[in-house]
Amino acid sequence: MSPPLKVAIIGAGLIGPRHAQSVLSNPSTELIALVDPAESGPATAAKLQTQYFPTLSALLYSSAKPDAAIVCTPNHTHVSISKELLSAGVHVLVEKPVSESIESGLSLLRHARQPENAHLKLLVGHHRRFNPYVLKAKEIIDSRALGQIVAVNGLWATFKPPSYFSPPTEWRRSRASGGVIPINLVHDIDIMHHLFGPIIRVFAEATRKQRSNPPHDANEGAAITLRFSSGVVGTFLLSDATPSPHTFETGTGENPMIPQAATTAATGGGGVADFYRIFGSDACLSVPDMRRWSYDGREEKSWTQPLALETFDVVHATPFDVQLRHFADAIRGSVRLGCTCEEGLRALVVCDAVRRSLESGLPVDVGLELE
Ligand SMILES: NC(=O)c1ccc[n+]([C@@H]2O[C@H](COP(=O)([O-])OP(=O)(O)OC[C@H]3O[C@@H](n4cnc5c(N)ncnc54)[C@H](O)[C@@H]3O)[C@@H](O)[C@H]2O)c1
Repeated sequence: MSPPLKVAIIGAGLIGPRHAQSVLSNPSTELIALVDPAESGPATAAKLQTQYFPTLSALLYSSAKPDAAIVCTPNHTHVSISKELLSAGVHVLVEKPVSESIESGLSLLRHARQPENAHLKLLVGHHRRFNPYVLKAKEIIDSRALGQIVAVNGLWATFKPPSYFSPPTEWRRSRASGGVIPINLVHDIDIMHHLFGPIIRVFAEATRKQRSNPPHDANEGAAITLRFSSGVVGTFLLSDATPSPHTFETGTGENPMIPQAATTAATGGGGVADFYRIFGSDACLSVPDMRRWSYDGREEKSWTQPLALETFDVVHATPFDVQLRHFADAIRGSVRLGCTCEEGLRALVVCDAVRRSLESGLPVDVGLELE
């Protein structure tokens, strides 16, 4: 067995310690350091029983050099920190979004592709790819149990209270930095890329505004059409201003802050609210209730025939743990890297195209040559 991978956590705010727990619970990784200039940094490192460094340079010049690092700092620092780590020969898992802008993301991509860095892994932390419901949906799609995929219908509709947009996080209500597209849609775009391949065209119509402007000038929602290079088409409804159980978080229960909305027999259900419906030539699947409807066992497929229902079980797993396992396996060469820098950038480019479509009122072709 190879020695444990030495991992450092860069940034110990909300999400850094969660990654640290994954490192601590994985027998093939070892938490060797935590970097954070904040006053709380030394106490967080002590709690995790690891070495503390106030800056990344202090870590890289010490004898505690890591094999890999997980970058959990604010978005605008992702590119510079990831470049510094790669230049020091350290594999990087950088939290999403990969970069604050498309230009800076491209500069990171160029840096990662330089011959001296090409052997290093750069994984973007779109951890929902490792959510068990998404893993199962991909397995079902890839097994062709739905036939050829024709279309997808996605929902992310919920209600965020005024406190979510209040200082010190008023950036969330600003058009320049916040709103529902960069904060929420980016996750679903990455999952749809993962399931159906690249999106090549979008068109978006804004939802009617529910909050006063000013101070709330960020986008609240949109109805979006999507065209994928594979020929799949999709629609996606996005809103943070309507009470509803139809979001990834509410459906999967993945985020401990957001209760899972399950219907019970008493409320006329017996399942969770779906957020994706995937339609194929042989069957359709809804996620995360994992119900597949088909004409299996019938002589012909016809809307006049009763549909057969099959439900798939999903085994619980913590996506951050599964993502770390994947990162370690990719570094050791036993699996192909999942969400690359290119793919992290693709999600940003599609979000930018949605924003441009809202502004222009026109469909927007998604153009980004990365290969
Ligand atoms: N995958 C997810 O679901 C998910 C969830 C939350 C946050 N995130 C991402 O994780 C990142 C961090 O988010 P957060 O909510 O933990 O932020 P946060 O503000 O709570 O924490 C960021 C930490 O980084 C530290 N920091 C700032 N500059 C630094 C530097 N140069 N070197 C080392 N440390 C530095 C800060 O002191 C702070 O403690 C963001 O990019 C965010 O988008 C992802």
